[in-house]
Amino acid sequence: MSDDAARARARAHPALQTPFCRLVGIEYPIVQTGMGWIAGAHLTTATAAAGGLGILGASTMDFKQFRDSVKQIKDQTDKPFGVNFRSDADDVDKRIDVFIAEGVKVASFAMAPRKDLIVRLKEAGAICMPSIGAKRHAEKVLEWGADALIIQGGEGGGHTGPVPTTVLLPQVIDVCRPAGVPVLAAGGFYDGRGLVAALAYGADGIAMGTRFLMSSDSRVPEATKAEYLARGVTGTIWTTAVDGVPHRVLDNSVVQSMVKAGKIRSLPGAIKNALAFKKSTGTSWRALIHEGLAMKKASDMPWAGVIMAANTPVLLKVAMVDGRPDEGVMSGGVVLGLIDRLDSCHDILQSIVNDANAILMSFERAGTAGTSGTASTAGTASTGSAAVRGGGGGVTGDTVAVAR
Ligand SMILES: Cc1cc2nc3c(=O)[nH]c(=O)nc-3n(C[C@H](O)[C@H](O)[C@H](O)COP(=O)(O)O)c2cc1C
Repeated sequence: MSDDAARARARAHPALQTPFCRLVGIEYPIVQTGMGWIAGAHLTTATAAAGGLGILGASTMDFKQFRDSVKQIKDQTDKPFGVNFRSDADDVDKRIDVFIAEGVKVASFAMAPRKDLIVRLKEAGAICMPSIGAKRHAEKVLEWGADALIIQGGEGGGHTGPVPTTVLLPQVIDVCRPAGVPVLAAGGFYDGRGLVAALAYGADGIAMGTRFLMSSDSRVPEATKAEYLARGVTGTIWTTAVDGVPHRVLDNSVVQSMVKAGKIRSLPGAIKNALAFKKSTGTSWRALIHEGLAMKKASDMPWAGVIMAANTPVLLKVAMVDGRPDEGVMSGGVVLGLIDRLDSCHDILQSIVNDANAILMSFERAGTAGTSGTASTAGTASTGSAAVRGGGGGVTGDTVAVAR
């Protein structure tokens, strides 16, 4: 551990040691989400080494890449990490066999999870953490036995619902509270202020995609990173034109042509790209058709949408792997407008924790009277987040108690 990391860790405010940290066995309540094409073994390991939870973005990997990546992470760290699955993938059962055999700790899901998969994973001792963008989805996955939830508001990158984070969080946390299930806030998070705000809402930490994509540890090509860096906070668009479901992406000419063309006219291009994806990942016809049928059944999407959805991974790959941002689609959150440099995962985590510490300490110094709004709101959350009572004296002072 470097000196500054050791110092920061020694200083970490007790409110930052949330139930989620204890559930998963991590130091800081910060998650790097499983982004397809982006969150490979290197990024996942870098986050784990920095004290957060890294999640391997396996939804765009073929079976061999997935298995090799899990082994690579395990060779490089003994810290906990997660894997992002597609429940509708043809070989999902085989992937779960590997997941269980390798003792991976956390399962997350791209799009909707499946009850039978959650049951199987839980029986094997895994922590199941679906992402949700609406209250009714939270209710469903809680019923299925989810151990933790990522609640993603509309600002977030990738597939995301219409409700802003600030409204979705209190709505869904009130549903999770009676179940005692830890939640992570996602969609627009970036710094220590956001982490403290998430704790005040009653969340147990934050999950970030765009911030980690824009780290020096992500292997996204420089040309594509430069495109993200150049964007302001209005540089994204929330649209169903890319793959038939709401998706937040950078607003570029490819996306604009899809928006203007509408579903039917984008079909020929979509079919061409879906075939390219089939070829590049070695997906069989049987698997492709099976996936299409499963997607149609799960989402009630029209066939045009199903074909467009199959097409999306290829368009993402053009930007995220091939480094041709002008010719591809780039998922990204509104928060990209705040990111102006590429820090390492270690520096991202340390700066968030240091800033959150400073804010929490300043609340304490100001005393209960000055901070009653924030502190008492947090204090009522059943997950016990940031319940700061008393005033003055710092975290070790005898007049301050931090309930957890
Ligand atoms: C480029 C990109 C790719 C993504 N791919 C996936 C994915 O494969 N699976 C998934 O569950 N979520 C995916 N997401 C959503 C993120 O996991 C995360 O929930 C979201 O980025 C949080 O919002 P933020 O971007 O404001 O941090 C993706 C997001 C981005 C930006």
